[in-house]
Amino acid sequence: MSQRGVTGLRGASAPTVAKSWERQGWPLRILRAFLGVTFLYAGIQKLADANFLHSGTPDFIGNQLNAFGQGSPIASLLRLAGHAPLLTGLAVALVEIAVGLGTLLGIAPVAEASMGLAVNMVLLLSATWHVHPYFLGSDSIYAVAWAAYLVGEVGIERKAARAARAAAAHGSRRARQHAGEGMGRREFLRGGLLAGGTVVLGMIASGFRGRPASAAGAITTPSRTTPSPSAGQTPTPPASGNAIVTLDQVPVGGAINFNDPSQGPAVLVRLAQDKVAAYSRVCTHAGCLVEYDQRAKLLFCPCHGAEFDPSQHAQPIAGPAPTPLPAIPVTVDASTGQVVATA
Ligand code: FES
Repeated sequence: MSQRGVTGLRGASAPTVAKSWERQGWPLRILRAFLGVTFLYAGIQKLADANFLHSGTPDFIGNQLNAFGQGSPIASLLRLAGHAPLLTGLAVALVEIAVGLGTLLGIAPVAEASMGLAVNMVLLLSATWHVHPYFLGSDSIYAVAWAAYLVGEVGIERKAARAARAAAAHGSRRARQHAGEGMGRREFLRGGLLAGGTVVLGMIASGFRGRPASAAGAITTPSRTTPSPSAGQTPTPPASGNAIVTLDQVPVGGAINFNDPSQGPAVLVRLAQDKVAAYSRVCTHAGCLVEYDQRAKLLFCPCHGAEFDPSQHAQPIAGPAPTPLPAIPVTVDASTGQVVATA
């Protein structure tokens, strides 16, 4: 391996972007492309998400830290981070962008892979700690992928460092001094490029941020509601509260999403001709939004596969969610046919 085109643990110069790809075999290239793109996307997506840094929304990083902390072996660390949720959220997003960008550009690959592994280990010990079986939690797979990439990169850099030391031993003192100065400048410029690129991408992503869910209003249909437990039965006149929708707008066995001012995203399910129930859509595992599956008549969480039965007070029947979805008390106004939130 030539002296140029090598990055260094110690004694080897940093490669160009093209060389950094050339020196890797296909297994490492595939891992690198996938992990780099995924981390870059994840960081950008967080900053473009209107809710991630906005308290009062279900996707707010503060809520996620609280949810992740339940039963996690690193609960105290998450509680600490929960004292500064905005800073934590911003730091997580920027680190993900920096790791993704640095990995794709081949800047400090060992450091980037170590950081990527650390990020996924934290997620594994928190967000997906309760996922059973473990392979349903994506963070375990990512952690293994980063570990494999890290080992591969360390091997390449060791080999490169040995080659560089051997080449330097045969070169002139002046040439070695020149190479050292050049390397210092290059490393500095590359570090600056990575920091600048991270900030610019972060700012662009933030520019695409929309309005937070809670401020943007209802998800569907007329929605003003309040929370509490359980299902309404037959029409119970006269009902006072906030109207959600008229009963005939929801087919039997169907559901409609709405926005609750206290609990945020919610779902109203028509369990039978004259029986409805409403629940928060915020998964009790880690805060993702559940969706109603009309064929299965269940509420599913897309993140880690939790399933809730709306006919059984939204009890979790599969997956990692520890508790039922919070219920919202509703009844049907006999005179108007409107489904009303009564709390
Ligand atoms: S957030 Fe993990 S199952 Fe819903």
